Amino acid sequence: MLLSRLVSTCMRIAFTVTVAGHLVTASHFVCRFTSQDKYLHTNCLAALANMSSEFTNLNSFVAQKVVHLYSQLCKRHSRLVDQIRASAMMSQDQSQLAEGSELQDLSVLEEVLRMVLEVINSTLTSHLQHNPHLVYSILYNREQFAMFRAHPTFQDILQNIDTVLNYFSTRLEPLGTNPSSKDVLQTIKDAGMTFKKDKLKKFPELKFKYVEEESPEEFFIPYVWSLVYHCSNLYFNPTRILLFSLNTGTAEPTVAGKTG
Ligand SMILES: *[C@@H]1O[C@H](CO)[C@@H](O)[C@H](O)[C@H]1NC(C)=O
Ligand SMILES: *[C@@H]1O[C@H](CO)[C@@H](O)[C@H](O)[C@H]1NC(C)=O
Repeated sequence: MLLSRLVSTCMRIAFTVTVAGHLVTASHFVCRFTSQDKYLHTNCLAALANMSSEFTNLNSFVAQKVVHLYSQLCKRHSRLVDQIRASAMMSQDQSQLAEGSELQDLSVLEEVLRMVLEVINSTLTSHLQHNPHLVYSILYNREQFAMFRAHPTFQDILQNIDTVLNYFSTRLEPLGTNPSSKDVLQTIKDAGMTFKKDKLKKFPELKFKYVEEESPEEFFIPYVWSLVYHCSNLYFNPTRILLFSLNTGTAEPTVAGKTG
């Protein structure tokens, strides 16, 4: 099956930062995100997580993308939690229906969020000194990391990130309230030299295994074609499209992706 071969090839060559950037982009693509997209997200993120202990000198673009993906997912998370609260207040029978799928979306979303945090944690734990741009990006968005500090699903994975945030925040204090980004980056690089690695907790290395689902094409073919239809600027007669539904207006395949 061409597409699944594509995915596994992609994962094999995935040891370069460029690919890391693309994978983050691919995850971004589907940020308007339902549980159907889990398939794509988890594969891209599993590949990233696999590589993350080898990441060195991530450039600022990739670092920002990773953190941006995290903050997008955080926003989606708060919206979804609000929706679930709201529908809990609706009349009983209506709300049960809505809540079922919302709760499912929430659990998928949390799983994806956790994988992003795993990528960040493992990059920082393995090569903090060689990734000043990533430290910069997480410092820049530190509130969003603080948000989940007490959340049971993310507590453990946030510990190292928190340690890093605290260490560098203290080092940045002398720079005053409005430091230039150049000064901040230099301070991060200098402070990184004296950071003691043993402050970070280590457990066995992160490995995700790519297990192919029974029929990945059910998800990938309509999904990829819907992306081609919506994003390629090529004309396809909309009345003849059978593979995916146009009603939703976005790239959503009619055939449900495997979420198990
Ligand atoms: C954080 O990353 C390190 C290095 O990859 C790993 O040993 C540790 O288990 C990770 N922490 C969590 C909570 O997964
Ligand atoms: C992650 O790495 C392991 C071992 O190196 C490999 O078997 C697995 O296929 C990789 N997973 C992905 C998603 O790249």
